[in-house]
Amino acid sequence: MEIDWILDRLKQGGVVAIPTETVYGLAADASSPAAVKAIFTTKGRPQTNPLIVHVASVQAARTLVTFTPEAEALAQAFWPGPLTLVAPRRPGAPVAEAVSAGLETLAVRVPAHPLMQQVLQALGRPLAAPSANRSGRPSPTTVDHVAQDFGPTLPILDGGSCDKGLESTVVQVLPDHPVQILRYGSLSPQDIAAVVPVAEGLGPGEASPGRLLRHYAPQTPLVLNITAPEPMDAYLSFGPTDHTGPCFPLSARGDMTEAAQRLFAQLRAADTSGAPRIAVAPVPDRGVGLAINDRLRRAAGAVG
Ligand code: TXA
Ligand code: MG
Repeated sequence: MEIDWILDRLKQGGVVAIPTETVYGLAADASSPAAVKAIFTTKGRPQTNPLIVHVASVQAARTLVTFTPEAEALAQAFWPGPLTLVAPRRPGAPVAEAVSAGLETLAVRVPAHPLMQQVLQALGRPLAAPSANRSGRPSPTTVDHVAQDFGPTLPILDGGSCDKGLESTVVQVLPDHPVQILRYGSLSPQDIAAVVPVAEGLGPGEASPGRLLRHYAPQTPLVLNITAPEPMDAYLSFGPTDHTGPCFPLSARGDMTEAAQRLFAQLRAADTSGAPRIAVAPVPDRGVGLAINDRLRRAAGAVG
């Protein structure tokens, strides 16, 4: 789709898919209650799960939420990029109430992808955008994934494959509270801790409503930490493997960044391969591996 056409649709309150450096987003004008409602309906998303608001610059983000010094430091270090800050919503911020699902905070992100940046700058308004998958499905990292979930009628801006492949890291920055990671993502806890002191582990699920829902589920049963898959298994390998059945390498050379990039695409491919079961190799639980394992556990049915 042409970018001008995408902009027209957004100005008319439409919902479109736009690439970001993490995953494709299902975007609409965050200031329009009707447009925001259309995101929830299109995605089949529960109204209790708030959306991330995307803006072009740190300056634009400061008009929507109040920044603690820690928020300021994180924004300077990682924006534009795969960081989402959850901070107190400013009174009068031009964002529909439904975006934050009744919370007093707002999740804000300045994405780095040149196409998303171009759209945000041309529009001059914040865009609400969850990942462009049907609720519960793996996140989309290509145009084909978006089309698999929504069919040919949804306008999609084609940006090829997403660079990071995993969603942004969601970090809560509230006055008088320790900085707290709410969702593991593309930036590792070490990346965050290199800039500001951050609480151990993940914040409570109640602070991150998305964690309390079933997520990333393939239709095929999925098992984790498998080093010797059954012959019929679709195997998501990490490092070398001698599996002779269908194989979907996350990274043949055992590289975590590559595994993050490929995770959702290989999960979708394994799911449609016809194999009776998906088996996943162990992935080290450190760095971006924390986010990979979080998504894999959810794909296997875990919630929380
Ligand atoms: O990389 C990403 O973050 C992508 C791209 C499109 O930007 N977006 C994305 O959105 O992953 P979504 O809707 O799939 O996930 C947003 C997460 C959810 O877990 C939601 O509960 C949480 O952010 N969230 C949004 N607003 C929040 C708030 N005010 N407080 C706590 N969590 C919030
Ligand atoms: Mg999502």
